[in-house]
This record gives sequence, C-alpha cells and structure tokens, in this order.
Amino acid sequence: MMSQPLVLGIETSCDETAVGIVRGRTLLANVIASSVEEHARFGGVVPEIASRAHLEAMPSVINEALKVAGVSLNDLDAIGVTAGPGLIGALLVGTSAAHGLSLALDKPLYGVNHLSSHLAVDALDESRALTPAIGLLVSGGHSSIIQMSDMARSVQVLGETIDDAAGEAFDKIARILELDFPGGPAIDRLAREGNATAIEFPRGLANSEYNFSFSGLKTAVARYLKETPLAHKADVAASFQEAIVDVLLEKALRACRETGIEALIVAGGVAANSRLRMVAAERCRVAGVELRTPPVALCTDNGAMVAAMTSLAVSGGIAPSQVGFPTLSTVPLTQPTWL
Ligand code: KG4
Ligand code: ZN
Repeated sequence: MMSQPLVLGIETSCDETAVGIVRGRTLLANVIASSVEEHARFGGVVPEIASRAHLEAMPSVINEALKVAGVSLNDLDAIGVTAGPGLIGALLVGTSAAHGLSLALDKPLYGVNHLSSHLAVDALDESRALTPAIGLLVSGGHSSIIQMSDMARSVQVLGETIDDAAGEAFDKIARILELDFPGGPAIDRLAREGNATAIEFPRGLANSEYNFSFSGLKTAVARYLKETPLAHKADVAASFQEAIVDVLLEKALRACRETGIEALIVAGGVAANSRLRMVAAERCRVAGVELRTPPVALCTDNGAMVAAMTSLAVSGGIAPSQVGFPTLSTVPLTQPTWL
C-alpha cells in the first residue's frame, strides 16, 4: 500500500477537458480547457462538439499539468480517469487517453466515479483529518445527501432528487429568464441585484426525509413569470435561488443532526453558488457543524478531483481497474471505482 502516491487524473465527462496531479493529498496541478463557448449558441452542451474538443485539447492539457506539477510521466504511481457518469463520447476520449498512458508507461489505471470524485476533492484540504462527514452533492445531474466515512470503499446514500437535479433547475430557470448559458453562474450573478424574499416559491418535499424535488419549484417560477410579465427578473432569480438553497441546507443539516455527524461537505458545480456558500456558512456555524466547501475552482468539473479520488483508492489498497473497463452514462454513487 502506498501512502503518498503521485497520481494524474483525467476528467472529460462533459465540456471540460481537465487534468489534475496530486501527491497523496497535496494538489500539484489543476489544468482545465473548456469548450463551453462552443456550446453557448446552442443553449446546452452538444455531445459531439464536446468529444471533438476533448480530442484536440487532451495532449496540451496533459503536458501543461505535468509542467505545472514539475513531474514527468515516468514519475507517476497511478493514472485515474472518470469512467462515468457523463456523456459517453466525451468519456471515451478520456478513458482512451488514460488507457494509452497506462499501457505505454506500465502504470496502474483506475476508472473512477465522477460523483464520488466531486466529494473526494475535499481530501485535498490537508489541514483536516479524513473524518466521517455528511456530503451534499449538487451538480448538473445529481442532488444527493450521503453519509461517508471511507470515500474509496463505501458511501451510503441517504436521499436524492426524485426529479430534477439542483443544477438542472438552475439551468432551466436561467433559460426561462433568457439568461446566458450556463445558467447557474448567470442566476448567481443576477440574484445579487435582487430581493430573495420578494416572492415565496415552494420548498419541495419539505417534510419528506432526505429526498429532493425541484420540478414543482420550476413550474411555480414559470407560472409566476407568465402571470407577471413585468416581473423584476433579479427578484425572481434571487427568490428562486433562495428556495433551492433553503431546501438543500435544511435537509443536509437535518442529516447531520439525525446521524450525529458534525461535518458537512458541500460539493459539485452548484457548490460554486455564492448564496449557497454564504447560507451554508451561517447555518453550520449556528448548528455547530464543521463546513467543508472546496474552493470554487474545485467545485465545478476538474481533474484534481479525479486525481484525489484515485489517490484515496491507491492509498486505501483498492485494486486497479481492468484494462477495457466500460464507460457508463449513469452510475450509482455507491460505486467509487471500477473493477
Ligand atoms: O459538477 P458540474 O460542473 O458538472 C456536472 O457534473 O454536472 O455541475 C454543473 C452544474 C450546472 O448545472 C451549472 O449551472 C451549475 O453546476 N453551477 C452553478 C454555479 N456554477 C455552476 N449553479 C449555481 N450557481 C453557480 N455559481
Ligand atoms: Zn461534475
């Protein structure tokens, strides 16, 4: 078992071509090339455009990450790559590159779960011990509350969304408000000029365990805009955002209370939201819960999180994946690495 493995992680599940390098829990490099601008005029990520952009960017992103980290390919102890969930064509570019490196260099290869990786990035904060925590994972495709102790082996899903994911709700409401793609950051910006208590939007499944539902909220916002053509858009954005933030944190902190776990990790693209970060800090302080939110750059998709997840697997004695492991468009959070 290796305690400080030098790991290169590749992430290509959506529109970011990203490579991160870590040594143990120390971040050495995090390089990202995004094709987001090529998708903007379509109002959403076009899979074929994303795949081609990954192919073009991959060699230079890998080289740049090695340069920043000051290491060479031969120094690596393992290679990690997102094997799912994500866009299959996009994932295949990453897993093919990773297979090529692994075979050419004779280094162990780990296919890892993109969702677990979002949470595993928390391990890169070396100032903290890896204690049990509740994880609130909020990304474009997922909203889950999980109980985690050893990220590389097992996580327990306490609840998840029964319809839209939080990020998806941000993106859909942004489209209705005619904001730029991607919608989450656009709503975040506009909401700063609005009044979050202007409109009382519904808090879905307020009393129902740990599951989320955001489709009712989406419908309520759409109906409000239809009935109120002169609505102040910033107020709508702020009030919508407040409803999401309120529900996410109410349930995540309830999970902390009911399990007796005193740490909360908020991760995934939506964890970049400034209001979510602010309210999480306030409520965790009141509840006496230690809040761990990765820096904004490590919340949205990146390669450091894949390297972090792989590093935890290597140091935890998990066996590498077998050559030819599958890429999958959907994978449960309970499967951190591939066989
Ligand atoms: O984790 P991520 O980068 O990709 C997936 O794994 O899905 O998450 C992307 C999601 C998108 O829905 C995007 O709108 C949302 O994260 N997002 C935000 C913010 N930045 C990204 N949502 C709200 N506020 C933000 N600042
Ligand atoms: Zn993601």
